[in-house]
Amino acid sequence: MTQSDISCGLEYVITPDLQACLTEALHYNYSFIVAPIVHPRFRRHHVMNTGKIGGFTRSDMVLSPQDWTTRIVGRLSPYLNVDSDVPVVRQRHEDCLNEELAYCRGLGLPAIMISLTGKNNNNLARILQSYHENCHHPSLVWVQVPMVDSRSLKTYSETDESESPWNEPWYWWSKFHERLDYDKKVGVVLELSADLPSKEILNRWLGEPVKAVIVPTSLFHTNKKGYPVLSRAHQEVVVSMMEHEAQIVVRGARRSNVEFYLQYVYRLWQRKPNPADDPMLSYARGWEDYLQVPLQPLADNLDTHTYNVFEKDPVKYDQYQKAIAQALIDIGNNEGGLNNISELPLKDTKPLDLDKNTKKISGKSIIVMVLGAGRGPLVRATLNAADITNTNVKVIAVEKNPCAVVVLAAQVREIWKDRDVIVIPGDMRYTNLSSKADIIVSELLGSWGDNELSPECLDGAAGLLKPGGISIPSVYKSYVAPISSPRLWAAAKVAVGPTNNKDKNLETLWVVYMQSKHDIAETKMVFTFEHPANGKTDHEGQEMADYRGLPLTDNRRSSTVSWKVEQDNVMHGFGGYFDCSLYGKEMISIVPTTHSPGMISWFPIFIPIKTPLRVQKGDTITATFWRCVDSRRVWYEWIVEVGNQVTPIHNCNGRSSEMLL
Ligand SMILES: C[S@@+](CC[C@H](N)C(=O)[O-])C[C@H]1O[C@@H](n2cnc3c(N)ncnc32)[C@H](O)[C@@H]1O
Repeated sequence: MTQSDISCGLEYVITPDLQACLTEALHYNYSFIVAPIVHPRFRRHHVMNTGKIGGFTRSDMVLSPQDWTTRIVGRLSPYLNVDSDVPVVRQRHEDCLNEELAYCRGLGLPAIMISLTGKNNNNLARILQSYHENCHHPSLVWVQVPMVDSRSLKTYSETDESESPWNEPWYWWSKFHERLDYDKKVGVVLELSADLPSKEILNRWLGEPVKAVIVPTSLFHTNKKGYPVLSRAHQEVVVSMMEHEAQIVVRGARRSNVEFYLQYVYRLWQRKPNPADDPMLSYARGWEDYLQVPLQPLADNLDTHTYNVFEKDPVKYDQYQKAIAQALIDIGNNEGGLNNISELPLKDTKPLDLDKNTKKISGKSIIVMVLGAGRGPLVRATLNAADITNTNVKVIAVEKNPCAVVVLAAQVREIWKDRDVIVIPGDMRYTNLSSKADIIVSELLGSWGDNELSPECLDGAAGLLKPGGISIPSVYKSYVAPISSPRLWAAAKVAVGPTNNKDKNLETLWVVYMQSKHDIAETKMVFTFEHPANGKTDHEGQEMADYRGLPLTDNRRSSTVSWKVEQDNVMHGFGGYFDCSLYGKEMISIVPTTHSPGMISWFPIFIPIKTPLRVQKGDTITATFWRCVDSRRVWYEWIVEVGNQVTPIHNCNGRSSEMLL
């Protein structure tokens, strides 16, 4: 990596010769410049339509089209106040702003920069909204706000009031962005200030689409060797923003050689965690904040590329292998388990006689059924565990995807020919076998635990397990945390999903590697599933059975979770996660605080709410989630309450998203 790999711009307050400014910045390896749209020589007359032709700025021929479209961020005149209380000023400035926007539209700039200096920006939002609506290829809008509002700082710090004045620039931005319906073409640019707000306030910015951080040269001091450097606190802010893909803009008087600032920014950039050191970071590269529709491996047949991706996980199969090994040891230690092959009567279907298909092996074998075996990685993990524990195993791989069955059968012929492995094609819920398993192993987990219908599949296959047999996994739980993320919310609104309909998209779960989000409160548990599952009990406390004699389970759930809000924010939905006890102490988790290091198989879930909710410090967020089941499908519904605000019930009757049984 070199300096030219980072995106760092240099701001010019005035650009008497734009070409010369750009040449200088590129010469020092800056990637772009921020330059005023209006050339200083051409300050405009106060009265529009004076008959003067053109001439409010320079000709677009001073730069090549490519430079305009890749190297220039156009700064709109900062003095324009289209929300002024004075009508004549407001109108005049509106005319000037429209003139500048129209000119930018013709240049095709990658971004234009405007400043917010207070909280009243409705007219500005309205003008930008119509700019975006009237433009085929609108530039991104970079909205500059100070990290700290120095005016309020002065007023309040003396009286040692609460921290609320610190919040103001975030409010300006957040209200402005809300007016624009969280348009993803609009991002924020933070101007670093000498005083920094608290960590909580800084973290809240990480949920916002921070496009760039402006680092004023006045914040640098000179180190012993004569180079400009930032204080440790400022370094941390810049690095954390860069981790969230923010670009840097160097602004202000040159107190040092201009190339030294870039060299310093490059050194900070090198401190970002290296994807090569973290499998999840390198795997997720390019997928940040990209929404995907959750897989439905039960209703659909996965393709070979999806299996390929699963099988690259360096951790998941290792954890399974350890869990299986432990289960084999425990069963081996408990000799009775091996002989205890009692068969549950399955009423309707004739059991398939496995002995006909089985290779004869000497001694007793522990029967391990891999349910939903895919292309066989859990069969491999079982055989490895058997080798490690020196145990005889007979592996029965059940799989309903015909393409995966082809791969399994080939492996039995070619790789596992000396092992006792057989493949049973079919749906585990309707498979009836003469032998029963000591251990069933499955991985039917979605990013929210049960959302790939593991409970329904495993309950349907309960007749394959001996009484007292072991299920790996044994327990899985789903979790949520309320989050602020205008970016994910805006992406969900317009995502190309199963419905392509804004209302339905916001009633759908999305799989996403969330980068631009801020947790409003901690992660809490929602639903739990255990296997083997207990059946429902009747009024006499007796476990009920279904028509096949299997425990009659109920996988509907509802759960209400509450959080105290610690800081004003806007809630856009929930981050969703799961963790899972495989067997004994072996776990896998994607819950942020307990995430299995290096495990890449699952990105989290984003659960949006239809209308973002403003939440204030001291409020209680209460959310209820329902897992609903009918004969054909499973779906979630959810509702959120904050004070006297309440959302509608999301996804009522599964009208927008469902998982098919
Ligand atoms: C998430 S994949 C896991 C595959 C493999 N065990 C792995 O870890 O790579 C789930 C697999 O279970 C299969 N599956 C899902 N529901 C099933 C069912 N009811 N009966 C049989 N196979 C099922 C799918 O076809 C898919 O191959």
